[in-house]
Amino acid sequence: MSFRTQPAPVARPNRCQLFGPGSRPAIFEKMAGSAADVINIDLEDSVAPSDKDSARQNVIQAIGDVDWGNKTLSVRINGLDTPYWYRDVVDLLENASERLDQIMIPKVGNAADIYAVDALVSAIEAAKGRKKRIAFEVIIESAAGIAHVEEIAAASPRLQAMSLGAADFAASMGMATTGIGGTQEGYYMLREGQKYWSDPWHWAQTAIVAACRTHGVLPVDGPFGDFSDDEGFRAQALRSATLGMVGKWAIHPKQVALANEVFTPSEAAVQEAREILAAMEEAKAKGEGATVYKGRLVDIASIKQAEVIVRQWDMINA
Ligand code: COA
Ligand code: MG
Repeated sequence: MSFRTQPAPVARPNRCQLFGPGSRPAIFEKMAGSAADVINIDLEDSVAPSDKDSARQNVIQAIGDVDWGNKTLSVRINGLDTPYWYRDVVDLLENASERLDQIMIPKVGNAADIYAVDALVSAIEAAKGRKKRIAFEVIIESAAGIAHVEEIAAASPRLQAMSLGAADFAASMGMATTGIGGTQEGYYMLREGQKYWSDPWHWAQTAIVAACRTHGVLPVDGPFGDFSDDEGFRAQALRSATLGMVGKWAIHPKQVALANEVFTPSEAAVQEAREILAAMEEAKAKGEGATVYKGRLVDIASIKQAEVIVRQWDMINA
């Protein structure tokens, strides 16, 4: 470990973030009643330009009126390249109840984007005497966003989570696909005439995880567009979990259970993690730094790996 130790991210379950358009208030109660840990009401790309004003009013009203339980409640504002975003921030922070936990800033390209929103939010919080400090989450979904991912992760103490937005990311990168996440037809290796599909989102995901873990931010996988393909969602989510991401978006309610299933450690995994910790305790008592568990090496690093799983489990069950 470097002299600077790795900061812990906020301790909250973030297995699934369920999205719904701010222009569709009929689904707000259903979102609140879902099993998602985080609710994202959208003012951005799922809301038509002619509906931006009314969606903002719907959302402000629903933040106060709907019983959101113990969920993290987040609103996605419009991008900083639009004429809408400042009004989103001003109206939300001036008029929404203190139940609002977080705002999501889409299409961030550098740390200054977050600085700008932070300055505006801080001024309104002070002017209005808001007690709860609003948290931020961001979407990395452009070439600039991924190129500057580390300075973005470090940009504000308000920043708690960062998602990969596959669709806008692919467009910005000029990728030859219209798919939102998942396996891409053209991305394969050949061996003896046989095709082996590979994962075109892999490097962006690992870049996000590294930036997030360096700065104590939760790394999250974004949308999987084909909500008829449960197995495709599961495969994508399992890869993300394996790489260190803590959760995934749901763009349809049927994806919530899939995300929760993948991002909740299985009882078998928790049991094994506890056994590894016990084996290492025994080794320590004998003055050993490494031992054998089920025929494989476990050492001090294994303690940290096992603790990730046990901590995740304890937090979810808290
Ligand atoms: N959250 C909660 N409930 C939702 C929902 C959502 N995002 N989307 C649909 N539902 C409800 C419907 O109201 C319906 O409820 P009912 O059984 O009580 O009638 C049920 O779930 C089944 O809905 P379905 O008919 O399959 O979907 P739809 O055609 O109504 O909506 C989408 C499909 C994709 C348009 C919708 O899910 C949606 O808007 N998703 C989010 C899009 C978004 O926010 N994008 C931005 C982030 S990428
Ligand atoms: Mg987007």
